[in-house]
Amino acid sequence: MRQLTYIFLTLVICVLSCESRKNVLFIVSDDLRPEIAAMYDKGNPYQMHDKMYTPHLDAFAERSAVFRKAYVQQAICGPSRASFMTGRRPDTTHVYNLDDYFRTVGGDFTTIPQYFKQQGYRTLGMGKIFHGGSASGGNYDKVSWSDDEEFFTSPSDKKYWRKRFKMRSWAVVNKTMEEEHPLGDQEITDHAIKSLRRLAPTAKLGLENFFMAVGFRLPHLPFVFPGRFLKYYPKETMKMPSNPYAPKDMPEYAWHGNGEIRNGYADITLRGFSKEPNTKWPEYLVKNLRRAYYASVSYVDSLFGKIMAELDRLGLRDDTIVMFGSDHGYELYEHSAWCKHTNFEIATRTPLMIRAPGVTDKGVMSDHLVEYTDVYSTLVELAGLPALPTCPKDSSKVKACTEGTSLVPVMKNPNLPGKQSVFMQYPRNRGPRIGTIMGYSMRTERYRYTEWVKFNGKPDFTPNWFLLFASELYDHYVDPDENVNRAGVQAYASVKAQLSKTLHAGWRAQLPS
Ligand SMILES: *[C@@H]1O[C@H](CO)[C@@H](O)[C@H](O)[C@H]1NC(C)=O
Repeated sequence: MRQLTYIFLTLVICVLSCESRKNVLFIVSDDLRPEIAAMYDKGNPYQMHDKMYTPHLDAFAERSAVFRKAYVQQAICGPSRASFMTGRRPDTTHVYNLDDYFRTVGGDFTTIPQYFKQQGYRTLGMGKIFHGGSASGGNYDKVSWSDDEEFFTSPSDKKYWRKRFKMRSWAVVNKTMEEEHPLGDQEITDHAIKSLRRLAPTAKLGLENFFMAVGFRLPHLPFVFPGRFLKYYPKETMKMPSNPYAPKDMPEYAWHGNGEIRNGYADITLRGFSKEPNTKWPEYLVKNLRRAYYASVSYVDSLFGKIMAELDRLGLRDDTIVMFGSDHGYELYEHSAWCKHTNFEIATRTPLMIRAPGVTDKGVMSDHLVEYTDVYSTLVELAGLPALPTCPKDSSKVKACTEGTSLVPVMKNPNLPGKQSVFMQYPRNRGPRIGTIMGYSMRTERYRYTEWVKFNGKPDFTPNWFLLFASELYDHYVDPDENVNRAGVQAYASVKAQLSKTLHAGWRAQLPS
């Protein structure tokens, strides 16, 4: 009875004075390079597979801001997610691996969902949002989610698939198997739909808005997907990458050894591939893996489509901001590399699409350079919440601040200039004597520039620019696949000096004055 009175009173007050706030649906997939048909056109030099089947994401793109040049701050799951979920960079979260928890090693930072929760939203999560295990405190960062919402993970992944996953790098499941053991991402989707149905009535009345985070596991290895998605990728259309070799004059630090795929799956491990660059993998195996990756992307597209259809059916489309993204890009034997763990374009660039009712209805195609640290303040501005200040130099004690900038201005006016440079990094551990070498990388409209330098670890977490081990310079105007390191080429010397200055000045120098 008391609850009813409360709802009634809130309703009356709301009718009188509530501004209608928007819900947020925050959807991330894992290991997804911008392999979506909607992100292609003739002018886009990063075209990969030429016939992607992603109808739901394509339809979504038509009413979204599509950021085709969006970059993560470190191309591996845990650090990237810790970064964009807090709006701060790895040198602030101090998360560079899959084990560390930002609240332990960085500071008690307010995450995106936590901020929405503080502003009165119901926040709930499911699937892969933060990296699991110790990287999110063993409880998926409980404080980010509303107290009476339990963070949902896939039961059949836990009970069944996780054991099977170690055996094969890719596998097709048929209907019978799916019925016996639903795929994890299917369970996440079902839970998302159930949650939307439960939350819709109060959200539509304006009584309580929601922030719902949905994380797909695919297209992460192993590529386990329903066989029906293979038909979109006939075997004979599969191609090798145009550059199955390491860049000319690539420094050793840039290379990662393919450890994830070589050590993680029995069918690959038993082949005993070398960790060296330019290792030849049999063509049929490369093509099978590429095909399985594409099919996994199409599967994710279909699940995404189911969630979008439910949002429409419940009449929530115009009241809900929807973001779709991933934690980093992916190497499918480009540069003879697999997975991520590098500073290359293909590992650091990932899709970012934001559909904001009333703002992006006509669709916005943006080639601005944007960073995943920008997501936080963008969603905050779109939802009309109080803006976050830019973090001070030492923000370890500042709960809510950001090292990104809102993308709303360029969503509203694509002619506005964006950032001139965006930043990312990747560490290489060189043992107790040498310590960590950090690759600080930067993308400008034309170049990628990287310096591998000695890293001042705890307690500084800063680069030592004077101890330079190697540098890389790729000219995207003539070499969009980053096949030739031009850092040692005399004709680029003055450009390189300029880029080095910009890299050292860092992201703060890029802020609008
Ligand atoms: C489905 O896959 C399982 C396991 O590979 C197999 O035993 C079964 O015969 C398949 N069923 C159909 C209908 O193809």
